[in-house]
Amino acid sequence: MSTKTTLIGPFRQLVTLDGLVFSGPLSDDQLQIIEEGGIVVENGKIKAIGKFKDLKPSFSQKVDLIEDDFVLLPGFVDAHTHICYGGTRAGDYALRNAGVSYLEIARKGGGIWDTVTKTREADLDQLANQLAKRAKRHLSEGVTTCEVKSGYGLDLGSEIKMLEAIKIVDARLKIDLIPTCLAAHIKPKDFEGSPAEYLLFTANNLFSFLKDNQLSNRIDIFIEESAFSTKEAASYLHMAQQYGFSITVHADQFSTGGSEIAAKFGAISADHLEASGEKEFKKLIKADVIGTALPGASLGLGEPFMKGRKFLDMGGCLVIATDWNPGSAPMGDLLMQAAVYGAHQKLTTAETFAAITGRAAKALQLEDRGILKQDYLADFVAFPTNDYREILYHQGKMKPEMVWKNGNLIPNSKTR
Ligand code: NIG
Ligand code: FE
Repeated sequence: MSTKTTLIGPFRQLVTLDGLVFSGPLSDDQLQIIEEGGIVVENGKIKAIGKFKDLKPSFSQKVDLIEDDFVLLPGFVDAHTHICYGGTRAGDYALRNAGVSYLEIARKGGGIWDTVTKTREADLDQLANQLAKRAKRHLSEGVTTCEVKSGYGLDLGSEIKMLEAIKIVDARLKIDLIPTCLAAHIKPKDFEGSPAEYLLFTANNLFSFLKDNQLSNRIDIFIEESAFSTKEAASYLHMAQQYGFSITVHADQFSTGGSEIAAKFGAISADHLEASGEKEFKKLIKADVIGTALPGASLGLGEPFMKGRKFLDMGGCLVIATDWNPGSAPMGDLLMQAAVYGAHQKLTTAETFAAITGRAAKALQLEDRGILKQDYLADFVAFPTNDYREILYHQGKMKPEMVWKNGNLIPNSKTR
């Protein structure tokens, strides 16, 4: 294999996010910033990082010169999305804003079930193409790794179709897609049996297939009044653990209970947590469960945000993800949401950046990304500024002008 080594720079600032602890508060003076920095890429990984002028003599054969002012950050990681789906829910959105509640819409057959119907109707190609469009947009906005859930199929064939679409798009595009099985999203209306029976049927008929065909290593469940109870979830997650799946939970979105199960089962993360208070946070932190805030769902539903400041101050590992989905969170702009959420919760720049890079990678158990560091993946994003503080200040309107994934500059990322 031929080795291609490239020095890229100089960047006004390299914000490495290296050396930060993985949980609890972070102050901005902990940020490692290399002024006039350069980054050396070899075989998709970071070979060296430092001052451009110090690297230049050893790596002068191939230099990608950066002429203007740019600040470099690690590529973003969106640790929670539902971007594989058919249809749209613009009608639901309008209804909600006219006063009909999310749960009421769901009870009347709209909501998640509407997307299930449209997703079942789409064939594998159509589903993959729609997913690819959204994944491309994310990549152009700096998201180099993106988790994607199933959960709009809700029968064996359709859940498998969704996970296959995710696998196809992961192979087709440069962005890394991490699949999660959310067959336990809600009990499908056409399943004849109780929610507990649906979960048992799913575990017995899907889990080994997912493993054998490498479709997912992660199991998610929506614990809520309108979805599954804590008792039902406990049996399902117990089975998931026996198969060796990692666990993540949609917890405490409208009512508490899910976080306790997430803690009990040692989930990697508990996501949502809008309804959680000190008691719930304490249990999660004690069990080392990451708390993932989903500001896009709060914005989409007009609901409160997760109390991220409190979670950090109590020692938690806070991640911010979009929850991009057709129902509760249609926006899907990670940087904008992180910036707005950070301003609302009084998060430091370091805490917000860590929540969409290194800490988010941890939520997906990926230890090779999220930090600009030797031997890590060469995933990074360049913003047109000379001061990293400008990035969040513009609240998502300043987009990266260049995005590299595995050391490759993404075509069209330089179009804004
Ligand atoms: O994370 N909370 C449950 N599931 C999704 C919403 C899915 C939908 O409304 O389609 C969420 O918000
Ligand atoms: Fe979600």
